Amino acid sequence: MDKMTIRDMDVQGKRVFVRVDFNVPLKGDTITDDTRIQAALPTIRYLEEQGAKLILASHLGRPKGEANPSFSLKPVRDRLAQLLGKEVKFVGESIGEAVENTIKTMVDGDVFLLENVRFHKGEEKNDLALAQEFAKLADIYVNDAFGTAHRAHATTEGIARYLPAVAGFLMEKEIAIMGGALANPAHPFTAIIGGAKVSDKIMVIENLLTKVDRLLIGGGMANTFLLAQGYNMGKSLVEPEQLETARRLIDFAKQEGKMLLLPTDLVVAKEFKADASSRLVSLDGVTDDEMALDIGEQTVKAYEETIRTSKTVIWNGPMGVFEMDAFAKGTNAVAQAVAKVQGTTIIGGGDSVAAIEKAGLADRMTHISTGGGASLEFLEGRKLPGVEALMAKEGN
Ligand code: 3PG
Repeated sequence: MDKMTIRDMDVQGKRVFVRVDFNVPLKGDTITDDTRIQAALPTIRYLEEQGAKLILASHLGRPKGEANPSFSLKPVRDRLAQLLGKEVKFVGESIGEAVENTIKTMVDGDVFLLENVRFHKGEEKNDLALAQEFAKLADIYVNDAFGTAHRAHATTEGIARYLPAVAGFLMEKEIAIMGGALANPAHPFTAIIGGAKVSDKIMVIENLLTKVDRLLIGGGMANTFLLAQGYNMGKSLVEPEQLETARRLIDFAKQEGKMLLLPTDLVVAKEFKADASSRLVSLDGVTDDEMALDIGEQTVKAYEETIRTSKTVIWNGPMGVFEMDAFAKGTNAVAQAVAKVQGTTIIGGGDSVAAIEKAGLADRMTHISTGGGASLEFLEGRKLPGVEALMAKEGN
Protein backbone atom coordinates (compact mmCIF):
# COMPACT_ATOMS: atom_id res chain seq x y z
CA MET A 1 0.00 0.00 0.00
CA ASP A 2 1.28 3.46 -0.84
CA LYS A 3 -0.18 5.02 2.33
CA MET A 4 1.56 5.49 5.65
CA THR A 5 0.52 3.14 8.44
CA ILE A 6 0.71 3.09 12.23
CA ARG A 7 4.14 1.48 11.88
CA ASP A 8 5.42 4.78 10.46
CA MET A 9 4.35 6.82 13.52
CA ASP A 10 5.67 7.29 17.01
CA VAL A 11 2.47 6.97 19.00
CA GLN A 12 3.90 6.65 22.50
CA GLY A 13 2.02 8.93 24.90
CA LYS A 14 -0.04 10.35 22.01
CA ARG A 15 -3.82 10.60 21.81
CA VAL A 16 -4.70 8.48 18.79
CA PHE A 17 -8.15 8.75 17.19
CA VAL A 18 -8.85 5.36 15.60
CA ARG A 19 -11.80 5.09 13.20
CA VAL A 20 -12.96 1.49 13.26
CA ASP A 21 -15.98 -0.16 11.64
CA PHE A 22 -17.91 -1.63 14.56
CA ASN A 23 -21.12 -1.66 12.53
CA VAL A 24 -22.01 -5.15 13.76
CA PRO A 25 -25.35 -6.98 13.58
CA LEU A 26 -27.34 -6.73 16.82
CA LYS A 27 -30.41 -8.52 18.16
CA GLY A 28 -31.52 -6.24 20.98
CA ASP A 29 -28.32 -5.80 23.00
CA THR A 30 -26.70 -8.98 21.71
CA ILE A 31 -24.02 -8.88 19.04
CA THR A 32 -24.76 -11.75 16.65
CA ASP A 33 -21.45 -11.54 14.78
CA ASP A 34 -18.38 -9.87 16.26
CA THR A 35 -16.08 -10.42 13.25
CA ARG A 36 -15.59 -6.70 12.73
CA ILE A 37 -14.58 -6.18 16.37
CA GLN A 38 -12.14 -9.09 16.22
CA ALA A 39 -10.72 -7.74 12.95
CA ALA A 40 -9.78 -4.43 14.61
CA LEU A 41 -7.93 -6.08 17.51
CA PRO A 42 -4.45 -6.22 15.91
CA THR A 43 -4.44 -2.42 15.49
CA ILE A 44 -5.89 -1.81 18.95
CA ARG A 45 -3.42 -4.17 20.66
CA TYR A 46 -0.45 -2.72 18.80
CA LEU A 47 -1.37 0.85 19.76
CA GLU A 48 -1.91 -0.22 23.37
CA GLU A 49 1.49 -1.91 23.48
CA GLN A 50 3.12 1.16 21.97
CA GLY A 51 1.69 3.27 24.81
CA ALA A 52 -0.86 5.30 22.84
CA LYS A 53 -4.06 6.64 24.39
CA LEU A 54 -6.71 5.12 22.13
CA ILE A 55 -9.87 7.02 21.25
CA LEU A 56 -11.97 4.63 19.16
CA ALA A 57 -14.79 5.89 16.95
CA SER A 58 -17.39 4.06 14.84
CA HIS A 59 -20.86 4.30 13.45
CA LEU A 60 -23.54 1.66 14.05
CA GLY A 61 -26.46 1.40 11.66
CA ARG A 62 -28.18 4.45 10.22
CA PRO A 63 -29.61 6.54 13.09
CA LYS A 64 -30.11 9.53 10.75
CA GLY A 65 -28.14 12.11 12.72
CA GLU A 66 -29.98 11.68 16.00
CA ALA A 67 -29.11 10.06 19.31
CA ASN A 68 -31.07 6.82 19.51
CA PRO A 69 -30.42 4.19 22.20
CA SER A 70 -31.10 1.30 19.81
CA PHE A 71 -28.01 2.34 17.87
CA SER A 72 -25.77 2.81 20.93
CA LEU A 73 -22.27 1.33 20.82
CA LYS A 74 -22.54 0.29 24.48
CA PRO A 75 -22.94 -3.44 23.67
CA VAL A 76 -19.85 -3.11 21.49
CA ARG A 77 -17.94 -1.51 24.38
CA ASP A 78 -18.89 -4.49 26.58
CA ARG A 79 -17.75 -7.02 23.98
CA LEU A 80 -14.53 -5.14 23.28
CA ALA A 81 -13.71 -4.96 27.01
CA GLN A 82 -14.23 -8.72 27.18
CA LEU A 83 -11.97 -9.37 24.20
CA LEU A 84 -9.24 -7.05 25.45
CA GLY A 85 -9.59 -8.22 29.05
CA LYS A 86 -9.54 -4.66 30.35
CA GLU A 87 -11.68 -1.60 30.93
CA VAL A 88 -12.92 0.29 27.88
CA LYS A 89 -14.12 3.77 28.80
CA PHE A 90 -17.49 4.89 27.44
CA VAL A 91 -19.50 8.04 28.23
CA GLY A 92 -22.41 7.84 25.77
CA GLU A 93 -21.16 10.80 23.70
CA SER A 94 -18.60 11.34 20.96
CA ILE A 95 -17.87 15.05 21.44
CA GLY A 96 -18.26 17.58 24.26
CA GLU A 97 -17.18 18.07 27.83
CA ALA A 98 -17.64 14.51 29.11
CA VAL A 99 -15.50 13.22 26.25
CA GLU A 100 -12.79 15.85 26.77
CA ASN A 101 -12.70 15.26 30.53
CA THR A 102 -12.37 11.51 30.06
CA ILE A 103 -9.48 11.96 27.64
CA LYS A 104 -7.70 14.14 30.24
CA THR A 105 -7.80 11.23 32.71
CA MET A 106 -6.36 8.69 30.25
CA VAL A 107 -2.96 7.12 30.80
CA ASP A 108 -0.83 5.46 28.14
CA GLY A 109 -2.46 2.25 26.86
CA ASP A 110 -5.99 3.25 27.93
CA VAL A 111 -8.88 2.59 25.54
CA PHE A 112 -11.91 4.87 25.19
CA LEU A 113 -14.82 4.09 22.83
CA LEU A 114 -16.85 7.10 21.68
CA GLU A 115 -20.61 6.81 21.17
CA ASN A 116 -21.99 6.27 17.64
CA VAL A 117 -20.62 9.14 15.52
CA ARG A 118 -23.77 9.09 13.35
CA PHE A 119 -25.73 10.55 16.28
CA HIS A 120 -24.43 13.85 14.87
CA LYS A 121 -25.91 15.11 11.58
CA GLY A 122 -22.54 16.42 10.43
CA GLU A 123 -20.95 12.96 10.33
CA GLU A 124 -22.49 11.72 7.09
CA LYS A 125 -22.40 15.23 5.58
CA ASN A 126 -18.64 15.33 6.16
CA ASP A 127 -19.19 18.59 8.02
CA LEU A 128 -15.76 20.08 8.52
CA ALA A 129 -16.69 21.87 11.78
CA LEU A 130 -17.61 18.46 13.24
CA ALA A 131 -14.45 16.91 11.76
CA GLN A 132 -12.44 19.59 13.55
CA GLU A 133 -14.24 18.85 16.83
CA PHE A 134 -13.14 15.23 16.51
CA ALA A 135 -9.65 16.21 15.41
CA LYS A 136 -9.07 18.38 18.45
CA LEU A 137 -9.51 15.32 20.70
CA ALA A 138 -6.34 13.73 19.33
CA ASP A 139 -2.77 14.08 18.02
CA ILE A 140 -2.87 11.38 15.34
CA TYR A 141 -5.64 9.90 13.18
CA VAL A 142 -5.74 6.22 12.23
CA ASN A 143 -8.28 4.80 9.80
CA ASP A 144 -8.81 1.07 10.29
CA ALA A 145 -12.43 1.11 9.08
CA PHE A 146 -12.09 -0.57 5.68
CA GLY A 147 -15.82 -1.34 5.73
CA THR A 148 -16.59 2.40 5.77
CA ALA A 149 -13.71 3.56 3.55
CA HIS A 150 -16.12 4.17 0.63
CA ARG A 151 -17.87 6.88 2.65
CA ALA A 152 -16.51 10.45 2.76
CA HIS A 153 -17.72 11.26 6.27
CA ALA A 154 -16.39 13.49 9.06
CA THR A 155 -14.61 10.62 10.84
CA THR A 156 -13.43 8.87 7.66
CA GLU A 157 -12.36 11.77 5.45
CA GLY A 158 -12.84 15.24 6.97
CA ILE A 159 -10.79 14.57 10.10
CA ALA A 160 -7.78 13.48 8.02
CA ARG A 161 -7.41 17.10 6.87
CA TYR A 162 -6.58 18.23 10.41
CA LEU A 163 -4.34 15.48 11.82
CA PRO A 164 -1.45 13.33 10.61
CA ALA A 165 -3.49 10.49 9.08
CA VAL A 166 -2.36 6.88 8.63
CA ALA A 167 -3.84 3.42 8.05
CA GLY A 168 -4.33 0.70 10.65
CA PHE A 169 -3.43 -2.95 10.09
CA LEU A 170 -6.89 -4.07 8.93
CA MET A 171 -7.07 -1.31 6.34
CA GLU A 172 -3.55 -2.19 5.21
CA LYS A 173 -4.34 -5.91 4.97
CA GLU A 174 -7.62 -5.50 3.06
CA ILE A 175 -6.00 -3.26 0.49
CA ALA A 176 -2.81 -5.30 0.21
CA ILE A 177 -4.65 -8.59 -0.39
CA MET A 178 -7.43 -7.37 -2.67
CA GLY A 179 -5.23 -4.80 -4.43
CA GLY A 180 -2.47 -7.39 -4.82
CA ALA A 181 -4.84 -9.91 -6.37
CA LEU A 182 -6.15 -7.34 -8.84
CA ALA A 183 -2.75 -5.91 -9.75
CA ASN A 184 -0.63 -9.02 -9.81
CA PRO A 185 -2.72 -12.21 -9.74
CA ALA A 186 -1.52 -15.77 -10.14
CA HIS A 187 -3.28 -17.18 -13.24
CA PRO A 188 -5.75 -18.60 -14.03
CA PHE A 189 -7.63 -15.82 -12.25
CA THR A 190 -11.38 -16.43 -11.81
CA ALA A 191 -14.08 -14.10 -10.54
CA ILE A 192 -17.44 -15.45 -9.41
CA ILE A 193 -20.13 -12.80 -9.39
CA GLY A 194 -23.63 -13.40 -8.14
CA GLY A 195 -26.43 -11.66 -6.30
CA ALA A 196 -29.82 -10.41 -7.28
CA LYS A 197 -29.20 -7.56 -9.67
CA VAL A 198 -27.02 -6.82 -12.68
CA SER A 199 -27.41 -3.10 -11.99
CA ASP A 200 -25.49 -3.50 -8.68
CA LYS A 201 -22.60 -5.27 -10.35
CA ILE A 202 -22.09 -3.66 -13.77
CA MET A 203 -18.98 -1.76 -12.77
CA VAL A 204 -17.49 -4.73 -10.93
CA ILE A 205 -17.98 -6.96 -13.97
CA GLU A 206 -16.54 -4.32 -16.29
CA ASN A 207 -13.47 -3.81 -14.12
CA LEU A 208 -12.91 -7.50 -13.43
CA LEU A 209 -13.21 -8.42 -17.12
CA THR A 210 -10.05 -6.41 -17.75
CA LYS A 211 -8.18 -8.42 -15.09
CA VAL A 212 -9.50 -11.98 -14.79
CA ASP A 213 -9.24 -14.92 -17.19
CA ARG A 214 -12.67 -16.31 -16.35
CA LEU A 215 -15.86 -14.79 -15.01
CA LEU A 216 -18.66 -16.98 -13.65
CA ILE A 217 -22.10 -15.46 -13.27
CA GLY A 218 -24.85 -16.79 -11.03
CA GLY A 219 -27.71 -15.66 -8.82
CA GLY A 220 -30.68 -13.57 -9.88
CA MET A 221 -28.49 -11.41 -12.09
CA ALA A 222 -27.79 -14.38 -14.39
CA ASN A 223 -31.48 -14.30 -15.39
CA THR A 224 -31.07 -10.96 -17.15
CA PHE A 225 -28.06 -12.29 -19.08
CA LEU A 226 -30.05 -15.38 -20.11
CA LEU A 227 -33.05 -13.27 -21.14
CA ALA A 228 -30.67 -11.12 -23.18
CA GLN A 229 -29.68 -14.30 -25.02
CA GLY A 230 -33.28 -15.00 -25.89
CA TYR A 231 -34.31 -17.57 -23.25
CA ASN A 232 -37.74 -17.41 -21.66
CA MET A 233 -37.20 -16.69 -17.96
CA GLY A 234 -40.86 -17.01 -16.92
CA LYS A 235 -41.54 -15.21 -13.62
CA SER A 236 -37.82 -14.98 -12.73
CA LEU A 237 -36.40 -11.77 -11.35
CA VAL A 238 -35.10 -9.89 -14.40
CA GLU A 239 -34.12 -6.30 -15.11
CA PRO A 240 -35.47 -5.52 -18.58
CA GLU A 241 -33.73 -2.13 -18.54
CA GLN A 242 -30.37 -3.91 -18.19
CA LEU A 243 -30.72 -6.20 -21.23
CA GLU A 244 -28.57 -3.94 -23.36
CA THR A 245 -25.94 -3.79 -20.60
CA ALA A 246 -25.94 -7.58 -20.33
CA ARG A 247 -25.38 -7.90 -24.10
CA ARG A 248 -22.65 -5.27 -23.96
CA LEU A 249 -20.87 -7.12 -21.13
CA ILE A 250 -21.03 -10.41 -23.05
CA ASP A 251 -19.53 -8.65 -26.10
CA PHE A 252 -16.91 -6.94 -23.96
CA ALA A 253 -15.81 -10.32 -22.55
CA LYS A 254 -15.43 -11.67 -26.11
CA GLN A 255 -13.50 -8.61 -27.17
CA GLU A 256 -11.16 -8.98 -24.16
CA GLY A 257 -10.74 -12.68 -24.95
CA LYS A 258 -12.16 -13.65 -21.55
CA MET A 259 -14.23 -16.70 -20.69
CA LEU A 260 -17.65 -15.57 -19.43
CA LEU A 261 -19.68 -18.48 -18.09
CA LEU A 262 -23.44 -18.33 -17.59
CA PRO A 263 -25.69 -21.03 -16.13
CA THR A 264 -26.57 -23.84 -18.55
CA ASP A 265 -29.33 -25.24 -16.32
CA LEU A 266 -31.44 -23.92 -13.45
CA VAL A 267 -33.47 -24.92 -10.41
CA VAL A 268 -36.93 -23.40 -10.81
CA ALA A 269 -40.07 -23.17 -8.67
CA LYS A 270 -43.51 -21.64 -9.04
CA GLU A 271 -43.31 -19.80 -5.73
CA PHE A 272 -40.65 -17.88 -3.84
CA LYS A 273 -40.98 -20.05 -0.76
CA ALA A 274 -38.60 -22.27 1.23
CA ASP A 275 -40.90 -25.28 0.82
CA ALA A 276 -41.96 -24.63 -2.79
CA SER A 277 -41.62 -27.73 -4.95
CA SER A 278 -38.77 -27.26 -7.40
CA ARG A 279 -37.35 -28.90 -10.51
CA LEU A 280 -34.15 -28.92 -12.51
CA VAL A 281 -34.53 -27.59 -16.05
CA SER A 282 -32.36 -26.82 -19.02
CA LEU A 283 -32.32 -23.23 -20.25
CA ASP A 284 -35.20 -23.72 -22.66
CA GLY A 285 -37.32 -25.47 -20.04
CA VAL A 286 -38.50 -22.55 -17.88
CA THR A 287 -42.29 -22.21 -18.16
CA ASP A 288 -44.16 -18.91 -17.89
CA ASP A 289 -45.24 -19.59 -14.30
CA GLU A 290 -41.77 -20.60 -13.02
CA MET A 291 -38.85 -18.64 -11.63
CA ALA A 292 -35.15 -19.52 -11.43
CA LEU A 293 -33.94 -19.70 -7.83
CA ASP A 294 -30.59 -21.51 -8.12
CA ILE A 295 -28.05 -22.70 -10.67
CA GLY A 296 -28.50 -26.31 -11.82
CA GLU A 297 -26.31 -29.42 -11.48
CA GLN A 298 -24.62 -29.15 -14.87
CA THR A 299 -23.74 -25.51 -14.15
CA VAL A 300 -22.40 -26.47 -10.72
CA LYS A 301 -20.11 -29.07 -12.35
CA ALA A 302 -18.77 -26.59 -14.89
CA TYR A 303 -18.25 -23.89 -12.23
CA GLU A 304 -16.56 -26.37 -9.85
CA GLU A 305 -14.14 -27.42 -12.56
CA THR A 306 -13.33 -23.82 -13.49
CA ILE A 307 -12.77 -22.89 -9.85
CA ARG A 308 -10.70 -26.02 -9.13
CA THR A 309 -8.20 -25.17 -11.85
CA SER A 310 -7.79 -21.53 -10.75
CA LYS A 311 -4.88 -20.01 -8.86
CA THR A 312 -6.68 -16.82 -7.80
CA VAL A 313 -10.40 -16.60 -7.06
CA ILE A 314 -12.50 -13.59 -6.08
CA TRP A 315 -16.10 -14.26 -5.11
CA ASN A 316 -18.86 -11.72 -4.59
CA GLY A 317 -22.54 -12.66 -4.41
CA PRO A 318 -24.48 -15.93 -3.99
CA MET A 319 -25.51 -18.25 -6.84
CA GLY A 320 -29.13 -18.54 -5.75
CA VAL A 321 -31.53 -17.92 -2.89
CA PHE A 322 -29.09 -19.51 -0.43
CA GLU A 323 -31.12 -18.41 2.60
CA MET A 324 -33.59 -21.19 1.64
CA ASP A 325 -32.02 -24.67 1.87
CA ALA A 326 -33.80 -25.91 -1.25
CA PHE A 327 -32.03 -23.24 -3.31
CA ALA A 328 -28.66 -23.16 -1.55
CA LYS A 329 -27.00 -26.06 -3.38
CA GLY A 330 -25.31 -23.93 -6.04
CA THR A 331 -23.92 -21.45 -3.53
CA ASN A 332 -22.75 -24.23 -1.19
CA ALA A 333 -21.07 -26.14 -4.01
CA VAL A 334 -19.24 -22.99 -5.10
CA ALA A 335 -18.20 -22.35 -1.47
CA GLN A 336 -16.81 -25.90 -1.21
CA ALA A 337 -14.98 -25.54 -4.52
CA VAL A 338 -13.43 -22.21 -3.52
CA ALA A 339 -12.33 -23.74 -0.19
CA LYS A 340 -10.33 -26.40 -2.10
CA VAL A 341 -8.46 -24.00 -4.38
CA GLN A 342 -4.68 -24.22 -4.17
CA GLY A 343 -4.07 -20.51 -4.38
CA THR A 344 -5.46 -17.17 -3.25
CA THR A 345 -9.16 -17.04 -2.43
CA ILE A 346 -10.86 -13.77 -1.60
CA ILE A 347 -14.45 -13.36 -0.49
CA GLY A 348 -15.53 -9.83 -1.27
CA GLY A 349 -18.03 -9.03 1.44
CA GLY A 350 -21.79 -9.16 1.89
CA ASP A 351 -23.93 -12.24 1.26
CA SER A 352 -21.11 -14.47 0.04
CA VAL A 353 -19.46 -14.04 3.45
CA ALA A 354 -22.70 -15.13 5.13
CA ALA A 355 -22.82 -18.16 2.79
CA ILE A 356 -19.21 -19.11 3.57
CA GLU A 357 -19.84 -18.77 7.29
CA LYS A 358 -23.04 -20.78 7.09
CA ALA A 359 -21.07 -23.54 5.35
CA GLY A 360 -18.39 -23.39 8.10
CA LEU A 361 -15.65 -22.67 5.54
CA ALA A 362 -14.45 -19.26 6.73
CA ASP A 363 -11.04 -20.47 7.89
CA ARG A 364 -10.37 -22.14 4.53
CA MET A 365 -10.27 -18.82 2.64
CA THR A 366 -7.20 -16.64 2.20
CA HIS A 367 -9.18 -13.49 2.95
CA ILE A 368 -12.73 -12.59 3.84
CA SER A 369 -13.25 -8.88 3.47
CA THR A 370 -14.90 -6.99 6.33
CA GLY A 371 -16.34 -4.59 3.77
CA GLY A 372 -19.63 -5.06 1.91
CA GLY A 373 -20.12 -1.85 -0.08
CA ALA A 374 -16.47 -0.92 0.38
CA SER A 375 -15.11 -4.13 -1.11
CA LEU A 376 -17.53 -3.84 -4.02
CA GLU A 377 -16.33 -0.31 -4.77
CA PHE A 378 -12.74 -1.46 -4.42
CA LEU A 379 -13.35 -4.28 -6.91
CA GLU A 380 -14.96 -1.73 -9.22
CA GLY A 381 -11.55 -0.07 -9.30
CA ARG A 382 -12.82 3.05 -7.57
CA LYS A 383 -10.75 5.13 -5.21
CA LEU A 384 -12.05 4.98 -1.63
CA PRO A 385 -12.21 8.42 0.03
CA GLY A 386 -11.20 7.01 3.44
CA VAL A 387 -8.00 5.66 1.91
CA GLU A 388 -7.28 8.60 -0.36
CA ALA A 389 -7.34 10.96 2.65
CA LEU A 390 -4.39 9.19 4.33
CA MET A 391 -0.81 10.38 4.05
CA ALA A 392 1.21 8.89 1.20
CA LYS A 393 4.44 7.04 1.88
CA GLU A 394 7.48 8.95 0.76
CA GLY A 395 8.17 8.50 -2.93
CA ASN A 396 4.43 8.02 -3.73
C1 3PG B 1 -21.19 -1.48 6.04
O1 3PG B 1 -21.73 -2.22 6.86
O2 3PG B 1 -21.18 -1.76 4.81
C2 3PG B 1 -20.43 -0.28 6.52
O3 3PG B 1 -20.35 -0.27 7.90
C3 3PG B 1 -21.01 1.00 5.98
O4 3PG B 1 -22.30 1.20 6.45
P1 3PG B 1 -23.30 2.18 5.65
O5 3PG B 1 -23.67 1.48 4.38
O6 3PG B 1 -24.45 2.43 6.58
O7 3PG B 1 -22.52 3.45 5.34
